[in-house]
Order: sequence, then structure tokens, then C-alpha cells
Amino acid sequence: MKAVVCPRYGGPEVLEFRDLPMPEPAADEVRVRVIATSVTSGDSRMRAARFPAGIGWIVPAFLGFRGPRQPVLGTEIAGVVDAIGANVTRYSLGDAVMAFPGGKMGCHAEYRCVAETGPIANKPDGLSFAEAATLCFGGSTALHFLDVAAVLPGDRVLVVGASGAVGSALVQLARHRGAHVTAVCSARNADLVRNLGAEAVIDYETTDPRGDPGDYDVIFETVGSMTARDGLPLLRRRGRFVAIAAGLPDMLATIGAPGRGRRRVIAGPATEKPEYVQQLADLAAGGVLRPVVDGAYVFADIAAAHAYVDTGRKRGSVAILLDPAARDQDVSSRG
Ligand SMILES: NC(=O)c1ccc[n+]([C@@H]2O[C@H](COP(=O)([O-])OP(=O)(O)OC[C@H]3O[C@@H](n4cnc5c(N)ncnc54)[C@H](OP(=O)(O)O)[C@@H]3O)[C@@H](O)[C@H]2O)c1
Repeated sequence: MKAVVCPRYGGPEVLEFRDLPMPEPAADEVRVRVIATSVTSGDSRMRAARFPAGIGWIVPAFLGFRGPRQPVLGTEIAGVVDAIGANVTRYSLGDAVMAFPGGKMGCHAEYRCVAETGPIANKPDGLSFAEAATLCFGGSTALHFLDVAAVLPGDRVLVVGASGAVGSALVQLARHRGAHVTAVCSARNADLVRNLGAEAVIDYETTDPRGDPGDYDVIFETVGSMTARDGLPLLRRRGRFVAIAAGLPDMLATIGAPGRGRRRVIAGPATEKPEYVQQLADLAAGGVLRPVVDGAYVFADIAAAHAYVDTGRKRGSVAILLDPAARDQDVSSRG
């Protein structure tokens, strides 16, 4: 099968197409013929070894010194089951599915095996393959941090970076939980985030959100432009500052007892629970979570997709189409 390999850290030009052995499903696995995948901020960070401030020196010990230990990037897919292991009962050949191998990656390839009890669900009928393939990276991160921050109906929530993959999911899911959402984004994305459910918008290019007297219960920070030191004073008593793009100082701020007014900092990697994939499929099928697909590139142009994601300006997610038939679906195509 064709796969995109990242043999060493660097710019999009390091990516190479290679022929890799066809994966064979284990007894409890299905093999998915990938129709669409995505290039996420996580893929871009991994390819470029661009890790959060203060931890760049330690991360390569875990992920690989010269290049990623898992050289095939890509965290999420949608496609069709084309082979099943001997013990598989939940899926059949031809089923349309979406899956989120997440940090295990290996999705920038024509085929990917996934355990039937793992992070996989049937693709909702109303979603294109590109939409289904871009739902999980931002969506599961949002579900995790909404749970950890225990967002409740009536909470006042600020989302910094509301137009990104994580932010666009947070806006919708926080609103679904009954929170009042204020979104921080640029003017060009104000209508997008309002349509996703934000009740108030702060244009970060004209107004510094660090000076906002918001009185928030929860701040979700997905950009790195607001530190815990900036954000804690904007919180109500018992408020939570959730540093999703955290550098070392915010990670260290999670240690120890809550500070003044029992305000606390939450940071660290999101837990990738397999059940999030089904939850996200259900939320999308029910119209609660709308996938935001910035555009779609064909597989051959995946390096161009990386270059675009590297800009940090994408809206929602960037899809990669492996099956030309998927181009007919309702996403605009780039490349
Ligand atoms: N902790 C975890 O487990 C975890 C999991 C997933 C992701 N992450 C991290 O979360 C971060 C967000 O990921 P993502 O995929 O959502 O990123 P993304 O999609 O690349 O975010 C891009 C968006 O950020 C907006 N933006 C840029 N600067 C901004 C600013 N100063 N204020 C407000 N918005 C701004 C851009 O809008 P404009 O073009 O209009 O500026 C763009 O729409 C990344 O750092 C990623 O590594 C962490």
C-alpha cells in the first residue's frame, strides 16, 4: 500500500510516499480502506518536532531522536471495512466507518487496521468521508477537557482559538452543555464561531483578551497566547484555566493545591478514550457537532496540506482525500 512517511523531522518537504506492506488484521481487528484522513496541528508539530515551550528537549526521548518513531503520521480516518479478523462480530465487509488511532498515528496510508472494540464507530450517514475523518482530533480533545473541567449549564466559558480544530469543537460542545460561550478569534472567523454557538466574540487583533473582565468559570486556551498567569485573574472563584496548548510553566502550575479563590490550572495530554469516537459520531448525527472542514487536498498533495496547517491559520480541520470519488462530496477542494 502507499503511505506517507516522515523519515526525519523537518519541513513538509521531508515527507515521502513509500510502498509499505499491506497490513493484515489481527483476529479482533478490522482493516479500513482509507477514503479520507486529515492533517492536524498534531501532525504538523510531530513532523516539525515543534513541541510546546520548555519540553522540546525531553519529547524526542519518547517520540524519536532524528525523526518520529512512528514514521507514518495521521491520527484519524474514515473509510470502508475491507477485511476483518476471525473474531470480529461488530463490523462487516463494506461498512463505512470512522476511526481515531490518535497518538498511535499511522493514518496517512491507504489502509489502517483498528481493533473492533477500539476507537472506531460507524460513519453517520449524513456525514461525508472528509467530515467524518476530521471529527475526532479536535472533538475528542474537546470532550476530554470539557469533562476534566466539569463544564456545567450556565457556566461562563471563554475559548481562545475558537476557530481551530479543538476550539470549534469546544464552542459547540460547551454550548451543548448549556454554557455561555465567548470566543476569541480574528474578525474573519467571527461569523463562523457565532454560527457554531458563541454568544460573544472577542477579536484578538483589536482587543487583548487578557484584559477582558470576563468573570469566567472556565477558560480553554488552545493557542498559547494566554498563559495561566494571564488567565487566572479573569476567573471567578473555583474557576478553571485549561491550558490545551500548554508549555512547561502552565504544566508546572497544575501541581499543588488550587490557588487564591480555589482557582486552578488544568493541562497535559488529552486522554483518547475509544468511546469518544462513538460519542462524536452520535453528536454529529444528531446535529449537535458540526464538522468544520477548511478544505480538502488529494493524497498526492499532502505536503501542501502540511504547509497550510503549519501557518496556524486553518479554520477547523484540513481533510486529505485518498479516493477520488470522495472529491464529489460537499467540501471545497484545495490543491
Ligand atoms: N493537550 C492535548 O492533548 C492537545 C490535543 C490536541 C491539540 N492540542 C494543541 O492544541 C492547540 C490547538 O490545536 P488545533 O488543532 O485546534 O489548532 P489549529 O486548528 O491549527 O488552530 C488554528 C486556529 O487558531 C486561530 N488563532 C491563531 N492565533 C490566535 C490567537 N492569538 N487568538 C485566537 N485564535 C488564534 C487561527 O485563526 P486566525 O487565522 O483567524 O488567527 C486558526 O483558526 C495546538 O497547539 C495543539 O498542539 C493539544
